[in-house]
Amino acid sequence: MSEADRRTTTRRDDVAPTILARRTLLTVAILGIDVGGSGIKGALVDVRRGATTTERFRLKTPKPATPERVIDVIGEVAAHFAHKGPVGITFPGVVRDGVVETAANMHKSWIGKNLPDLVKDKLALDAVALNDADAAAIAESAHGAAKGVAGLVVLLTFGTGVGSGMVVDGRLVPNTEIGHLELNGKDAERQVAEGVREANGWSWKKWSKAANDYLALVESLFWPDLIVIGGGVAKNPNDWLPLLKTRAELRVAALGNEAGIVGAAKAAQRAQARTARTASPT
Ligand code: BGC
Repeated sequence: MSEADRRTTTRRDDVAPTILARRTLLTVAILGIDVGGSGIKGALVDVRRGATTTERFRLKTPKPATPERVIDVIGEVAAHFAHKGPVGITFPGVVRDGVVETAANMHKSWIGKNLPDLVKDKLALDAVALNDADAAAIAESAHGAAKGVAGLVVLLTFGTGVGSGMVVDGRLVPNTEIGHLELNGKDAERQVAEGVREANGWSWKKWSKAANDYLALVESLFWPDLIVIGGGVAKNPNDWLPLLKTRAELRVAALGNEAGIVGAAKAAQRAQARTARTASPT
C-alpha cells in the first residue's frame, strides 16, 4: 500500500465510524411527552418530518399533580412505547435548565425540582424538559403554521391555562409567560383560558370579547407579525376564529394536539445533537 493509500484508508477508518455513529445517534426515535393540567400524552416522533409515528397515548394527570405522581405517569407513558431512548418532556410552567420555576396549574411542590434529574433517577431515561407552549412554538415554527415566517411570531395556547411561545426569525425566546399579563387588573389567564370558558359555561361570543381585549394588549406590547392560536381551542376553530380581531395575521396551529409532543421531541433531539457535537467536535 502506497503512503497516499495508507493515509486515505486511515482517514476513512477514522472518520466514517464517527459519522455513522453520529447519524445513528441522531435518527433514533424520540419520545415526546406533553404534560398538561388534565392529561399526560406521548407519542414517538420522526423529528425530521415533525410528525408522530405512533398513535398518541394519553393518561390522566394525577390529582394532586405532585412530582412523584407525575413522574410515575411519565414512566407509564414511556413503558407503553417500551421506550428506553431519549425523551423530550413539556411542563406547563417556566422551565430553565430543566428546573421548574413556576407551576400555575400543577402542584406547587414542583417549584425548584429538576425534571430531567427526577426522570433519570426514577425511570433511568435521558430527558430534556421545556415549557409546553415553547415546545408547541418550536414545532409550529419548524413544521406548522409559522413555518418559514420571518419576524416575530407569537404562539398562544388556550387550554387549562394560557401559554405563550415567541419565535423571532425561527429562534425561540423561551419562557415568555405572557398568558399572565394583567388584563383589567387581573391575570389574563383567569379570563381567557379555555378551561375558564368551559367552567363558566361561556359562549364563544362571550369568550371572544375577553380574548380580543387580551390579543389587543399583546399586540400593543409586542407588535407580532403573526399570531398562532393553539391549545384546546384549536380543535374547533370555526367556533371562534371569525370572532377574533387582530392587527397581525392570525393562524390556527397546524399540528393541533401534537405540537407539544413534536416540539418536545425536537428539543430532545437538538440537545442530543449538541452533546454529539461536543463529544466529537470534528
Ligand atoms: C403557565 C405556562 C403554560 C401555560 C399553558 C400557564 O399557567 O404559566 O407556563 O405554558 O399555563 O399550560
